[in-house]
Amino acid sequence: MAIDILQLKQQAADQAVAAVTSGMILGLGTGSTALLAVRRLAELLAKGQLRDIRGVPTSSQIEQEARRLNIPLTTLEVDPVLDLTIDGADEVDPALNLIKGGGGALLREKIVAQASRREIIIVDESKLSPVLGTRWAVPVEVIEFGWRTQWDYLSALGAQVTVRQRNGVVFKTDQGNLILDANFGPLTDATTLAARLNARVGVVEHGLFLGLASEVIVAGAAGIQHLTRQA
Ligand code: A5P
Repeated sequence: MAIDILQLKQQAADQAVAAVTSGMILGLGTGSTALLAVRRLAELLAKGQLRDIRGVPTSSQIEQEARRLNIPLTTLEVDPVLDLTIDGADEVDPALNLIKGGGGALLREKIVAQASRREIIIVDESKLSPVLGTRWAVPVEVIEFGWRTQWDYLSALGAQVTVRQRNGVVFKTDQGNLILDANFGPLTDATTLAARLNARVGVVEHGLFLGLASEVIVAGAAGIQHLTRQA
């Protein structure tokens, strides 16, 4: 029997939530896969199988969902170190570097990832890629002021650039910024590109998550793989 993609995402989400223990402070990732983890977490809390969990949501969308599901929330001001974050990704390379930001939450996701002792990424096997950039453009969050100069900068670095839209209107992030999707094709040197983007004034953050994932849980037709980053 064919397993559909939703079932694969659910399997990855369930496996990640199995790593949660009572008392943990969690980062709550954004996207359709991370949402399944949040719902599973809520289920275990409601059944009393988990207790004393607090979560830091990575987007207003996931915050609303967590509130609706009665998951207690906290902030990085109150709890600056998180035990575990469970999040999704758009592309994962063999070294467990990622492209994230398909949902537009990359800035908060990266802040939360940096504040986490452990970052588990949950994906279905379609997200695996030999080289970052093969399947996905690099989302680059820029402030609105001077955005066109960032477009030109990204073009000069070799990208085909589009301004992200949603439902026919320009997409704004939770911070009110724009996203430029920069399609470089397969990246020969993601580290250098990340450094260039980090150094550029007006670029708030980008979707290259290098060295931030500690583990990746991949659900595929043949079963679950639990990958761990080599130090
Ligand atoms: C949100 O900004 C993203 O980083 C998501 O984590 C990523 O797009 C994965 O989303 P899906 O689980 O919906 O594919």
